[in-house]
Amino acid sequence: MEEMAEVISPGAIAGAVRRLGAEINRDYAGREALAVCVLNGSFIFFSDLIRELTVPVEVDFLKIRSYSSTESSGEVEVDWWLKADVEGKDVLVVEDIVDTGLTLNVILQKLKAGNPKTLKVCALLDKRARRKTAVNPDYTGFLVEDQFLVGYGLDLNGRYRNLRGVCKVRPPGLELP
Ligand code: IMP
Ligand code: MG
Repeated sequence: MEEMAEVISPGAIAGAVRRLGAEINRDYAGREALAVCVLNGSFIFFSDLIRELTVPVEVDFLKIRSYSSTESSGEVEVDWWLKADVEGKDVLVVEDIVDTGLTLNVILQKLKAGNPKTLKVCALLDKRARRKTAVNPDYTGFLVEDQFLVGYGLDLNGRYRNLRGVCKVRPPGLELP
């Protein structure tokens, strides 16, 4: 069994989701957003965030996987791509966590090819110290340290997505700082 320690409480997450929703409502006033959920990790954050939105919002989903359990390789596989036509739309990509940024970079390049009017990113968590690309979220819930996190949608080998808070995990045998 892995050791766990909660680093962001459910209450703190709820506060951040409300703040992000308010920022998005202010910035998208008079426009309609196409909110894109990046599956699997974003499904809980996405569900909470879109319910904070008062601007008109359409939702769509994409599913992308990076190869490996705890280290980003930059190689991704697209399992599902959104069905909505992004041309001329105000597209808001909703991510659980941006780590190296390699996954987000692939998503943004592919979306740009569809000629959206605007393209922005909202991420709950940002491990900025590990970034390997120039991409940064426009809206960020929390800056987090270089540690492996689970809960509120984030997993370790498919588990712990259902935890209400965000927890730090130290799997046995895995060298983490
Ligand atoms: P990136 O391509 O390195 O930015 O990583 C992107 C993906 O790796 C995220 O969308 C997550 O699915 C996963 N990931 C990165 N860090 C963590 C973590 O601490 N916990 C769980 N998943 C993570
Ligand atoms: Mg993810």
